[in-house]
Amino acid sequence: MSVSEEAVAYRAALEVVRAVEPRIAEAIVDELDNQRHQLKLIASENYASPAVLLAMGNWLSDKYAEGTPGHRFYAGCEVVDRVETIANEHACAVFGADHAYVQPHSGIDANLVALWAILAKRVELPRLDTLGVSHVNDLTPKAWEELRREMNDQRMIGMALDAGGHLTHGFRPNISGKLFNQRSYGVNPATELLDYDAVSALAREFRPLVIVAGYSAYPRNPNFRVLREIADEVDATLMVDMAHFAGLVAGRVLTGDLDPIGHAHIVTSTTHKSLRGPRGGMVLCTAEYAEFVDRGCPMVSEARCPMSWRPKPSPWPKPAHLALLTTPSESSTTLTRWPAA
Ligand SMILES: Cc1ncc(COP(=O)(O)O)c(C=O)c1O
Repeated sequence: MSVSEEAVAYRAALEVVRAVEPRIAEAIVDELDNQRHQLKLIASENYASPAVLLAMGNWLSDKYAEGTPGHRFYAGCEVVDRVETIANEHACAVFGADHAYVQPHSGIDANLVALWAILAKRVELPRLDTLGVSHVNDLTPKAWEELRREMNDQRMIGMALDAGGHLTHGFRPNISGKLFNQRSYGVNPATELLDYDAVSALAREFRPLVIVAGYSAYPRNPNFRVLREIADEVDATLMVDMAHFAGLVAGRVLTGDLDPIGHAHIVTSTTHKSLRGPRGGMVLCTAEYAEFVDRGCPMVSEARCPMSWRPKPSPWPKPAHLALLTTPSESSTTLTRWPAA
């Protein structure tokens, strides 16, 4: 029986780990055993490909890379710049987006970057322009305090948790709900479907700065064209969290009104639910939001190096194999996959 390259690579890596802490090596093997023998029905989880897993454990994870490619606050980022540029290119190509930002460590981070980008563009920038300054550091303490209050006094609407929404869509236990004044839209109790007239009525009454669409658990496809029309009517920014259906967007299963790209101003996703990357997040946006989204670091998280890998030899794009890689964050335990039996 021939042994695959992956098996050789994982076995060698495990021996290196075992030499330092055998219990960790044992746990890694046990996790593989769990994954092979237990049925996983957790919608948020997926199986990262061998190449994704192997590409994470290397020297790129040593780097700090605050800023964006070509504009770093740290020295020695030439290689990291190459990697992040490739990841951005892949994300834009796969989803047909104008701009991609692939540094978030998770979906929560990605949503936070998106929300702050909206606040920066729509609240902070106009205020700076009015006051004739170009940077928040140039504001007087009083002007800064007023701006902080104004940014903390914005409204958003998002899908109700019990209708399938996510905590990061403005709910109180999450920072998004402490930052924004949020109201929820639900589903029609009779049809259990999104009621666009009700969403529209809520938006007209509440006048949110942001309309968040997307879900963790809604077994239908929202119509993003209609949601964008509602957003435009009230001058809201439409943000879509596609974490649970990004694979169907990448694979062109969801097209037209069902594809958030082209309708939403900002689209966020994780890279590890319906895609097969490791744990991570990304933000896609139209050109007008690009410079604000790119401020995600240091706004929300300290940058690490994102890596992108294009699978072979499968047809492209193929969501099941899409890998937008990131080096492991401190909480990551992703070196756990053995080649399929
Ligand atoms: C729709 C949605 N967005 C964001 C997240 C958060 O993703 P993460 O766990 O990577 O922070 C989740 C989590 O499951 C989710 O369902």
